[in-house]
Amino acid sequence: MNVEPSLPIYEAVLQAHGGHFDFVGYVRDGLRYVAHRDDLHKMASMGLDTLPVECIAIPETSPLLHGERSELSAKADYSRRLTQYFPVYFVAALYELQSLILKFDAKGYVIGGITRDLLLYNEKRLAVRDVDITIEGDAIALSNFLMENSRNFQVLERYPEFGTAKMRYKESLMFDVASTREEVYPHCGALPMVVKRGVPLVDDVIRRDFTINALAFSIHELGHVLDYSNGIRDIEMRQIRVLHPVSFFEDPSRILRALKFCARFDFELAEETHRLLEYFLQCGGRFYKGGGERIKQELKGLLGVAESEAKRRCLRLFMESGCYRLLNMETPYQHTTESIERLDRLSLLLPVVESSLSGYVVPDFLFDIHLCFLFGDMPSEDFQKTSQRLGLTKAKREAIEHFRKLRPSIAERFGTLHEFASPVEIYDLFHGLPFITVVACILELGFDNQPLMKTALAAFATYKRKWERLHLELDGNDLIDLGVPEGRAVGQLLDELLHVKLAGRLPDRLDEIQYVQNHLQAQAEAVNPVAESVEPAEEPTNSHVVPPAP
Ligand code: CTP
Repeated sequence: MNVEPSLPIYEAVLQAHGGHFDFVGYVRDGLRYVAHRDDLHKMASMGLDTLPVECIAIPETSPLLHGERSELSAKADYSRRLTQYFPVYFVAALYELQSLILKFDAKGYVIGGITRDLLLYNEKRLAVRDVDITIEGDAIALSNFLMENSRNFQVLERYPEFGTAKMRYKESLMFDVASTREEVYPHCGALPMVVKRGVPLVDDVIRRDFTINALAFSIHELGHVLDYSNGIRDIEMRQIRVLHPVSFFEDPSRILRALKFCARFDFELAEETHRLLEYFLQCGGRFYKGGGERIKQELKGLLGVAESEAKRRCLRLFMESGCYRLLNMETPYQHTTESIERLDRLSLLLPVVESSLSGYVVPDFLFDIHLCFLFGDMPSEDFQKTSQRLGLTKAKREAIEHFRKLRPSIAERFGTLHEFASPVEIYDLFHGLPFITVVACILELGFDNQPLMKTALAAFATYKRKWERLHLELDGNDLIDLGVPEGRAVGQLLDELLHVKLAGRLPDRLDEIQYVQNHLQAQAEAVNPVAESVEPAEEPTNSHVVPPAP
């Protein structure tokens, strides 16, 4: 049935229903676009029925069209890869699982990332951590059966409300066992609700994110891969394709997942997937509620990909297409061309930073650094709201806040740094600042002055190695006990002591005490030049000041 692209979905639902049509569609640039009735219904049930049909219409020739889905697009035998690419302990677990699943009389599959990686990587020994298993049946009953029939399987947790169980095989291999299921999304960005369990495999895979993640590695027919969505072809064509047109409206965090996989595997977005992404950003954003935690996790995944040309390309797309607005659709903040440019150049500088500071790099390093630049120019209120939505920890918020404050004075602050800077100069420059703040400041320097950036990196690495943990043996109370008058003089002398210590002249506590006493004596002589020596300080009351017995 022909409709206008701008027809609201609720109208299209009525018309399709009234006319008993499976599709509504229109012609644009010589190409026929169609939206399936089921997808129109899904949009309507999420409250998105005022949006135009074109938001989810796809070319008639698209492989995403309903109808082809119950057909297997490929069933391929990958059993040779099994022993070639999977670690031995995992292969052993799969063989044992196969015989138990056959006894249980069910069909079980390894699903998701591991299967994708098995087909994707040709040479690597794959690392296997958490394994997702799905069975066409009752996952909790299977997990009980596995435990009753093998000492190697142990159920760690059962989640009856989700019909899933967490299991351990031998010492350390973890399995998540789930029943195949159908889900619905109550609204855009909500957590999905399971409506049916134990459904045929095809209905389970088709609800997922991308064709490359919808491949099922059979356990009962060990080594066979079942492909209902041309995922194998998409791996060969190196492209990321959603499984249905409503995917991004149901779970917008999948947009970041798409970019993450493109960056990680050097893939491209399939054309219609790219268009669906743009439609979501254009018209779906205002309906997007909740989901901050998932967005954070996926953003971490994307920003945490090692620097490469592919990542750079994806981050450019992230910025230029406005995907960054997913972090908080409610703020009107728009990045300027200049800030987009800066984020782009970050990819070129980060490898230098990572190699200079290797050994000090913290777990979320790439994520945290990118956040500094993503949030660097934002008005304060937008920054607060966005970091709240993402649930950033206090430490992360403070590090970014520090960077935002220092930013206008970075050139001035670091401008005097040179190769022969003294320990004191270096210490004063970095001390008290969070690691991420310092690195972001150094990167900011690097945008205009790479030699200075390298000098700063070398200085910071030395600071981390030698002086970050440097501290005095004496504290303010000790100084007072030694005769320093209470007040500003205590702080000033502590500072002086630290600087002398940085120069390597106060190796231990006795040297520090001696230095204080000399200082007091010099002061006394300055006030009263005839005095030959100052009265010795009273016997220190604070036992800390008494040099420890040899
Ligand atoms: N999945 C999905 N939609 C999401 C997240 C996950 O459909 N928003 C599905 C995908 O089929 C995915 C599987 O759940 O393969 C497991 O997700 P996850 O563990 O997050 O990712 P992996 O695909 O295993 O990838 P990674 O290598 O990053 O762990």
